[in-house]
Amino acid sequence: MITGNTKIAAIIADPIKQVKTPQMVNPIFEELGSDTLMVPVHVSADDLSGVWSSLKAIKNFEGMVVTVPHKTTVAGLCDEISEAAQIVGAVNVVTKTANGTFKGDILDGEGFLAGLLSQGIDPKDMSVLLVGAGGAGSAIAYAFAKYGIKHLTIANRTISKPQDLINRLQASFPDLKAEAVSKPEGQFDLLVNATSLGMDENDPLPVEESVIANCDTVAEIIMKPQMTRLLQTAQDQGRKIHFGEHMLKCQCKQMADFILSN
Ligand SMILES: NC(=O)c1ccc[n+]([C@@H]2O[C@H](COP(=O)([O-])OP(=O)(O)OC[C@H]3O[C@@H](n4cnc5c(N)ncnc54)[C@H](OP(=O)(O)O)[C@@H]3O)[C@@H](O)[C@H]2O)c1
Repeated sequence: MITGNTKIAAIIADPIKQVKTPQMVNPIFEELGSDTLMVPVHVSADDLSGVWSSLKAIKNFEGMVVTVPHKTTVAGLCDEISEAAQIVGAVNVVTKTANGTFKGDILDGEGFLAGLLSQGIDPKDMSVLLVGAGGAGSAIAYAFAKYGIKHLTIANRTISKPQDLINRLQASFPDLKAEAVSKPEGQFDLLVNATSLGMDENDPLPVEESVIANCDTVAEIIMKPQMTRLLQTAQDQGRKIHFGEHMLKCQCKQMADFILSN
């Protein structure tokens, strides 16, 4: 029941119709005993700064989830951002603090890690191949660096991105053993696809089939389709597979906790 006491949270995006976060986060607010409602807010990039000031002025506004195309801009608009958000250069969740400022974080990496752990996959002693160094890939690399893994190889079409990312990560985590490659080779305990390759059924595989054959477990962050070509190929080769939906499921709980943390 929405009453005069109900607080508002938002997800801001453009386009907005496809978002699934409100239907996943609202039941979590309820489970947590919070009288907060998340609503979709359709905001174009051009209108973001005006909407930002208005959201700040709303006294019963708790915070928001931020998605395409606003993640990078919002990192610059927040009054305070986490170390993860600084290294990645993007924010995907914001809470309004008690003194009215906006604090941002990026939970893609923490969500992915929690999803792995929820399925009994602990990357601690693993040699990991992460393919993709965009927003989600960088956040996952940060989460692996913070958690501590044996070795991280990051492959990306644009090689300068993982090279720069590893430099930033090693400044905060000097013990991190990591390398950037344009064409991965060798054996890995875990392969993570953090590129957008696989969303379309005609997309090429993000790595050669021979690489998949040399990985024990193959994980996706793409949610639709659930069984991407990469996962199907890995399963056909007898590899263990991990679906992209685990990341979002775990991240929704973390997002609800962060929004209500003010
Ligand atoms: N499960 C979840 O909760 C969750 C959360 C966030 C994102 N995602 C999914 O993760 C994927 C990536 O999202 P993002 O926000 O990280 O996007 P992004 O910042 O745009 O990064 C896209 C990544 O894919 C690579 N890429 C794109 N097209 C390519 C191609 N044709 N060949 C080789 N590499 C290509 C990019 O390489 P370059 O750097 O060379 O461009 C980059 O590494 C999307 O499918 C998104 O839906 C899932």
